[in-house]
Order: sequence, then structure tokens, then C-alpha cells
Amino acid sequence: MVILSVGFLGVQNAGAEDGYRLWLRYARVEDPALLKTYKSTFSSVVVQGKTETDRAILKELQEGFQGLLGKSLPTSDQPQEGALIVETPQSSPQFFPPRWEKELQDLGEGSYVIRSMEVNGRHVTAIASESPVGCLYGAFHLLRLLGTHQPVENLDLSEGPKVKRRVLDHWDNLDGTIERGYAGKSLWKWQELPGHVDDRIRDYGRACASIGINGAVLNNVNADPKILTSAYLVKVAALADALRPYGMRVYLSANFGSPKALGDLPTADPLDLQVIAWWKVKADEIYKLIPDFGGFLVKANSEGQPGPNDYGRSHDQGANMLARALASHGGVVMWRAFVYQDSVDKDRIKRAYKEFTPLDGKFDPNVFIQVKNGPLDFQPREPFSPLFGAMPKTPLAAELQVTQEYLGHSTHLVYLGPLWKEFLDSDTYAKGRGSKVEKVVTGELDGHGDSLIAGVANTGDDRNWCGHPFAAANWYAFGRLAWDPSLDSQVIAQEWARLTWGNNDQVVAPIVDLMTRSREAYVDYTCPLGLNGVFEKDLHYAPDPGMVDPRREDWSAAYYTRADAKGLGFDRTRSGSDAVDQYHKPLPDRFNNFKTCPEPYLLWFHHVSWDAIPWDGKMPCGNTLWEELVSHYGNGVEKVRLMKQTWEYLKGKVDGERWGMVDEKLKQQVKEAAAWRDKCLKYFQGFSKKPIPNNS
Ligand code: GCU
Repeated sequence: MVILSVGFLGVQNAGAEDGYRLWLRYARVEDPALLKTYKSTFSSVVVQGKTETDRAILKELQEGFQGLLGKSLPTSDQPQEGALIVETPQSSPQFFPPRWEKELQDLGEGSYVIRSMEVNGRHVTAIASESPVGCLYGAFHLLRLLGTHQPVENLDLSEGPKVKRRVLDHWDNLDGTIERGYAGKSLWKWQELPGHVDDRIRDYGRACASIGINGAVLNNVNADPKILTSAYLVKVAALADALRPYGMRVYLSANFGSPKALGDLPTADPLDLQVIAWWKVKADEIYKLIPDFGGFLVKANSEGQPGPNDYGRSHDQGANMLARALASHGGVVMWRAFVYQDSVDKDRIKRAYKEFTPLDGKFDPNVFIQVKNGPLDFQPREPFSPLFGAMPKTPLAAELQVTQEYLGHSTHLVYLGPLWKEFLDSDTYAKGRGSKVEKVVTGELDGHGDSLIAGVANTGDDRNWCGHPFAAANWYAFGRLAWDPSLDSQVIAQEWARLTWGNNDQVVAPIVDLMTRSREAYVDYTCPLGLNGVFEKDLHYAPDPGMVDPRREDWSAAYYTRADAKGLGFDRTRSGSDAVDQYHKPLPDRFNNFKTCPEPYLLWFHHVSWDAIPWDGKMPCGNTLWEELVSHYGNGVEKVRLMKQTWEYLKGKVDGERWGMVDEKLKQQVKEAAAWRDKCLKYFQGFSKKPIPNNS
């Protein structure tokens, strides 16, 4: 019997509540009865596999049990009473019931079962999968059950991911800065690589694996071509090696102009034979170093990035050229649909749809079109992008933004679970009622075998990873929803709260309550009723509803708000830009009609105005537009005050270190919410000429 020592950085800092350990704190179970049951259920651990992942599983279980139960589980080769057996058909053919194989195959790659059972008359718990990585996911699931104080004596669980590729997109630059990053510098210390791989990379891999994330795009979509030089590829390979045991594949953002930018060729034309050969050689070089390399993410012909259009070629020609370089190696291309050339349509939000829908069916099978959740750009609230449901022949990847570019950076507490659920639950009606975005993304609606959800990461090298202790909940929720988009965001919040703040119901309930209401509060004090684009230039943090950006009309706030003496909002009805008709029936009619358009999207689709009684006509809810606006802004501020009060109630009930950190940030949020309200209402008042009631 060998007792392994635990050496994770997390454990060395076991006492410190500085947020480093995220939801993997493995805090001691204090309820004596529960502790007793847990201790009697688990006596030893059997891990017969010899892969690096198996070693990672063993370490994690050791660390988890040590923390949770205060006892390390001795390892054993034989299942004794109370053994926890980690098994694949390869590692443990003697224990692995053959009937489980079919079940696991049906559940897909990475699936697992966790079962309480008898082996040779002894009570044991099995974590079984077709692969070590599936076992790792199973081990994290079991630790989550223990960490959230669930019963574990009679387990019969089986789980498989609903989305195959669950990827974090890091917008990290090679100089260590992070585009839209609010938690310090990049986790990848390029100057130290490949010689030294920071321990933190492994902890990043653990955190990702614990929520099922299985891929990372390492660099910014605004990609520096240098990432594809041999000097950088060996560094990428070192990161890939460190992350592989945790089931993580690395991907890279590729600059479409690389063959030219790196000085190798005079052109990057995707039909040029030398260009085609260049990418093929580059792909071969990458796969020699990283045999499981995931593929390329490409931002082409968007915001100044090079692309096939520069050579008179189309998106499919560009994407397919890259896809063919990767295909024999099993790699994929994630081609972004974040394009908005103003020659395409006067209304920015219609452009991606108009460019991409005619290309449906023209992409190679290993190309994903990666689409942001909304048609604009990660606003606090947008309707879903009409591309979902409009390209049935192409696997569409959903791109969510975990980092809070437009949602208060790492200063405002905004739990994004409800935002993502609103998107995933939206009905596209592509194949009649029930054709939810979720089904488009899982591939179920159109029968695609491969599927992908990407989240723009919010991690950095701040000690607590995400800057705000609650921002980690968004990393957590992203992973859980990518694994299973049908999960409930409140249930996810509960899980995260228990693992992060402890199992005291008096703590968990208020925290979950505060999280659940935070996104709507943010929408209320920043851009209620379907407003959007009201942010200051470039930083996208503070309000600037009157902002005019001389560089582009569609980067100006006024382009979106369209406030005038009669009313407010962007007319996208049939008498306006007709964006409503990019959706499947019955949505166009619903959105087109002022009376049936959901109020949260009203000013997104309508310029709400009245000729005879400017700003004074009644909204469908019965209030005037001005009254509604004032009330939403005021309510938003009030809701944040309540969040702050809830937090004050928690003083002394959670550790002072993290409590203080959150309290400071909430103080600032309360102030800034009021500033948002005042600045926006003042701006709109310039058009409405109505009084702002004192108590708003
Ligand atoms: C937004 C964001 C940029 C980013 C871009 C993208 O516009 O502000 O920083 O590069 O989205 O998604 O490509």
C-alpha cells in the first residue's frame, strides 16, 4: 500500500482563502454524521491505469479526500470493502463490467458512470469510463458530490457531454497582455517557455477538467502571426504537454495573413498553390510537435484582420483551404462570423447573416462557423443571433464571452448563467417550435456529429484567477453549460456557491439569490428595454450614451440608441431595417409588432415614438416610455444596493479575506450603478425634456 504525498500548489496554500483554489477548495466536512458516512463509504482507492491522466486522478482524489475528510485514501490493487475503483476496460479488465461499454459508447467521448456496487462480496464505488479522461471527469463529479454534501452511498450515475468541444478562447497577446482581460496578465509565460512550465498551468488544467472544459485557444483572435513560428510552436507544445493529462487540447488563433506576414510568401491568397502548400507544411510541423493539436480559430476580414476577401475570395474558400491543411491530422477550423462590413447593410446587426447564410453547405466538414450569442457584440442583453437556425448544413459553434467586457469587467458582480441560458433556451423555430439554440449548438437539430461551445476566457495571473471572486462563477458556469446546456443556471450557482463559500445554507441561499438577480440588475442600470451600445469608447466600461466615434458610425453609441425628440430605439421592423425578417416564423411578426415584441427587446427592434405625444405614448405595459426608462434605471440601482446589503449580512459568515474583497467591489458597483443611471437618464432627458423624479 502506498500513500501518495500531495504536492499541489492548492494544498500548500490550503489555509489561505485568497480565491486561488476556486471551487476546488475541498473544505473539511464538518457535520459529524455526514463525515462518518463518507469515511465509512470510502476506505481506499484503486487506480490501475498508468497514464499521466491516471496519475492526475489519483493526486486529485488524494487531495480531495484529504481536504474533505481529513484522511488520505491509501492506494491498493485489490478492491477491499469501501474501495473507490477507477477503471477503464484497458486498465482494469477484471473489474469492468462489459455491459457498461455500450452504455458509455452511447453517451459519447468523455462519458463516465459512477456506481455503488459489490465486487467479490465487498461494497465498492466504481468510476468507470472508456478513457482515463472520462474517469477524471467522473472523479471530479464524485468530489463535487462530496463537496456539496450529497449522499454517496447508493450512487448510480451516468453522464456524457452534450457538446464535444468545450473550449476557452484566451484573447492573450504574446507580450503578456490580455485583450479584454481584467485579471492581470496572461497565464502563459512565453518568455519562460518551453524550459519552465509554471505549476499554475496544471492548476488551470485541473480547474478546466473539473467542469469538463477540454480545449483552450491560447492566443488572441487578433492574432500575432508570430505564434506560428517554430520558436513559439515549441512553447505551445510545452503548454499542450502540461494540459494533456487534464484532457485539454490546445488550439491556436491563426492570422490569415501569416504566410505573407512572416515574410515567407508575397501573398496569402487562399487559392495560391504556394500558400496552400505553406499552410500544409505549417500544419505538419504543428502536428509533429503536438499530435492532438485541436485546430485554428480565425478572425478574418473583421476589424482590420486579413482574410480571403483581401484577395477577392470568399469565407468558404479561406476556411476550406485551412481546413484541408488540418484534415488529415484530425484538426478543425473555427471560422468566426463576427464580420460587419458596412457595404453589406446599413444595419450592422444584419451583416453577418447576409454574408454567411449564402455560404451554407459550402464549408468542409471540419469547419465550424463560430457565432457570438447575439448579432451585435456581447451586450448585456441581445436577442440570439439569427444565424442560429439559418445554416443547417454547417456546424455552428456558439461563442460566449466569459470575460465581462460589457458587463462591468472584474469590478461588477454579474453572474452570467442567466444570460447564457436565455440564449441557449431561445427558440429559433428553424424546424418548428422547440428548435432551441441549444439544439443547434449540440448538433442535435441538424444531425451534426461534431459540436463546439467557446467561451472568451476571464482568467489571468491575478492570485484569484478572475479578478473578482464572483467572476470565477462565470468560468464555472461556462464549463458546466458547455458540458450540458440544459442545466439550470440557478442549480449551477448553487453548486458553485457551496464549493466556493461552504455548505452553510444561511450563506448559500443569499449568495445564490444575489447571483441570480445580478444580471437583470446590471441590465436595468445600464441598458434596459433592449438598449445597447451605450458604452464609452474602446474600454466599454463606463456609460457614454452620446458617444460619437469618428472612426466608424457603428462604433458610436448614438447609432444604437437613436434618441430623438419623439422617442428612442432602433427601428428594425419592416418599416425600418427589417432585421426582424432574418428570424424564422413566427418570430418576425412577433418582433415586428410593438405590442407583441418582448419588452426586454423593445428598443432593440423598435424606435418607440409618438408623433402627437412625444415620449408620452403608452408602452404595452401601460407606462409611458419615459416612466419605464426611469423606473428600470432606478430599479437597477436599488437592486445593487440590495445585493450590497445581502453581502453585509454575510459578514462573519464567510472568511473575512474574500468577504472584504467582494465588499470593496460592491461598494464601487453601487456608486457606479448610480452614475450609470444619472448619466444615461440625463442624456435621454436631453431628448425627452421630462423631469427625472428625485427618488429614481
Ligand atoms: C469586440 C471586442 C474586441 C474583439 C472583438 C472580436 O469588438 O471589443 O476586443 O477583438 O470583439 O470579438 O473579435
